[in-house]
Amino acid sequence: MSSEVISRACAFTGGPIITSADEPLWVNINRRPFAFRHTLGNNPLLELPRLAELAVRAAHRNQRGHFFSRKSFGEALSLADRIRQLDEREDWIKISYANELDPDYGKIHDALLDELAALSQIPIRESMSWSGMTIFMNSPNLAVPYHFDHETNFLMQVRGTKTVDLFDQTDRSVLTEAEIENFYHGDVMAGRYRPDLENRASRFVLNAGDAVHHPPLAPHRIFNHDRVSISVSIFFTLPQTDQRAHVYQVNSFMRQLGLKPNPPGRSIHSDRWKIGLMRAISQRNPHSQKQAIFSGVQRVRLPARIVRKLVSTVTRKPS
Ligand SMILES: [Fe+2]
Repeated sequence: MSSEVISRACAFTGGPIITSADEPLWVNINRRPFAFRHTLGNNPLLELPRLAELAVRAAHRNQRGHFFSRKSFGEALSLADRIRQLDEREDWIKISYANELDPDYGKIHDALLDELAALSQIPIRESMSWSGMTIFMNSPNLAVPYHFDHETNFLMQVRGTKTVDLFDQTDRSVLTEAEIENFYHGDVMAGRYRPDLENRASRFVLNAGDAVHHPPLAPHRIFNHDRVSISVSIFFTLPQTDQRAHVYQVNSFMRQLGLKPNPPGRSIHSDRWKIGLMRAISQRNPHSQKQAIFSGVQRVRLPARIVRKLVSTVTRKPS
């Protein structure tokens, strides 16, 4: 880690946040999952009373999807009470882009990005398209179902314990081309768990201070143990991951037309025109990562929605 990065991190956190990770492991970034250690548990910003304040602010502001939570307790209890009583019911609260809500959380995000850049030797800030910090607060024994994500992700356990099963995103007998295409077509739960996958995961048990890297598209499922869990995830996306998403989006349309498209990486020529096509129909100045990836698909789907609406209007019986 460079001395500049260490001194910047020290100024806010009292030392590097990422404290132990086998240096050679970091060459596996975006390829294979690996474990490392961190010191976020020492930070008062990640204690429940302070997180409750942040959650109230996030829920109030809720721009760009800052706040998500289990719906069923939304009205019966105040948010602060829900967080205080996480161990008494089955509840979850997620604060996205915490770094944008409060400059103190922004400093953690920035320090982590610098440390990740130094460890991975990737100029993350210079090359990334988006980044953000997410905070999860979960009741005991809560399970997160099998799914996969677009981003390069680092999940850091701050309190409680969770088991994370990560599957090989490069093995097409685990994750199929069709599942990835459906995901980039807009189905966030496109990953299909099958019984034959049961023993094929890399398993990571995260106690406070433990962390694991999720490569983009690596399917995973998470089981919270019998205490309240707090975890922090930092993610970033790189242009090459975004471009691959656009190839998959064109492939999903081609497959719907009965064609058999080349997967990304098979042909530079076909990748290039697919990326160009999606770029041409996507929003020019996206305000969010979601818009950057999905606005093109949404625009192509729009005529079908309008047609359906028109059909339903025309065929609706007069009352
Ligand atoms: Fe995930």
